[in-house]
Amino acid sequence: MDVRSETVSELLTRLRNYASDHFATEEQLLVEHGYPELAIHKKAHKAYRRKVMALCEDTMDQNASVPEELQRFLGDWWVNHILGDDMRYRSFLMERGVT
Ligand SMILES: [Fe+2]
Repeated sequence: MDVRSETVSELLTRLRNYASDHFATEEQLLVEHGYPELAIHKKAHKAYRRKVMALCEDTMDQNASVPEELQRFLGDWWVNHILGDDMRYRSFLMERGVT
């Protein structure tokens, strides 16, 4: 594995770990407050995990397009998820006094 692939692979591993911690905390909070769209939200988290895993595997296979694809995917995913999915539960939790 070359330095570039190794760096990307390390980055992906850190992103995956960060996301796992973040998702677990978020999902726990949503379970505690009975968020009605929990299943859909968990599905989005699962799809993210699967995609990051696929990108990790592609990196191992030295797929040269990974950094560009990764950049696009992460940018789109986090913007759409945070501004879309996460904002939907924000108002739900705020109505229940969770800040
Ligand atoms: Fe989320």
